[in-house]
Amino acid sequence: TIEPLRDRFGRTINYVRLSVTDRCDFRCVYCMAEDMTFLPRQQVLTLEEIARLARTFQSLGTEKIRLTGGEPLVRKDILELVGEIGGLGLRDFAMTTNGNQLPKLAEPLRKAGLHRLNISLDTLDHERFHQITRTGQLTRVLAGIDAAREAGFRGIKLNAVIMKGRNDDEILDLVEFARRKQVDISFIEEMPLGDITEHDRGESLCSSDEVRSRIARYHELFPTTDDSGGPARYFRMKDSPVRIGFISPHSHNFCATCNRVRVTVEGRLLLCLGNEHSVDLRRVLRGYPQGDGKLRETIVKAMELKPERHHFSNEGDVQILRFMNMTGG
Ligand code: GTP
Ligand code: 5AD
Ligand code: SF4
Repeated sequence: TIEPLRDRFGRTINYVRLSVTDRCDFRCVYCMAEDMTFLPRQQVLTLEEIARLARTFQSLGTEKIRLTGGEPLVRKDILELVGEIGGLGLRDFAMTTNGNQLPKLAEPLRKAGLHRLNISLDTLDHERFHQITRTGQLTRVLAGIDAAREAGFRGIKLNAVIMKGRNDDEILDLVEFARRKQVDISFIEEMPLGDITEHDRGESLCSSDEVRSRIARYHELFPTTDDSGGPARYFRMKDSPVRIGFISPHSHNFCATCNRVRVTVEGRLLLCLGNEHSVDLRRVLRGYPQGDGKLRETIVKAMELKPERHHFSNEGDVQILRFMNMTGG
């Protein structure tokens, strides 16, 4: 048996989020600046390096891997990587995507061994969708959601970041949509990552409690003890199998049960989304191409740097300059 990774606070780290690209076919207002510059090729991990990381983490007890971006489906040859990691036999293998490439890729992804998909969907209004994503087309993502349902994934979840004055009037419509499509939905509080004026002073922040109480006027919500090892708190309704999750970095801190680390596409091992502590794994990957001993040792040691909690706040006093697309959420 494998001794799992542990940090200084006794938390077991068995979930790794691997970002496979910083690029994206959208430019969501809470994620990117309008004029982003992307990383040059040699700074980005190769698919072989990412697969090697996946195998190494698995040998250190990782049971769950999620591929993120940017948008993972814009990475060339992503299906090969999915096939590679899909073959490792992990307990859970998931991806977070904007859904734009799913009309074409949902079925091949499922066939390559991906178990679950989280798809971002903040609005059902075509005009607004275009405003939030700056380049996206709602019809295409809706078709992607249907393609994913047809492909037979173990689980599909929608992610909605709720922003005051932008889409907070659509909370119930999104719930109805999820019920109709029989997919789970999570409502997310916006996090202040990257130098984006939208984040300033948290004016657009809509708390999970507010979202929840608005839903509760129409659907009685029953707390569940489910967790997919994620930060969401899940609720059920009486008359539907659909679960409603709330991810509330501002209002309900979930750091005490954190089980995850992230690797950026530059190979930086990030110990927390809300802090800058990181360790350069790319240097080790490239410096020690044979044998994973040094890589394993570096990862084990890095766990000591995992902080107790994030320090996001609504007041804008903690500024994480890294944009969300560099981190994968
Ligand atoms: P599952 O529970 O496996 O379905 O995944 P998830 O909901 O954790 O992952 P997803 O990539 O769909 O992320 C949804 C939101 O949760 C994103 O906004 C993430 O940034 C946020 N999130 C995920 N993990 C953490 C975390 O450790 N800390 C914080 N602050 N936010 C997180
Ligand atoms: N705050 C909260 N969630 C965010 N996402 C992207 N940027 C932010 C942010 N600043 C969400 C996306 C996607 C997931 C990966 O993270 O909507 O669902
Ligand atoms: Fe792309 Fe997702 Fe960022 Fe939107 S939130 S710009 S879809 S990576």
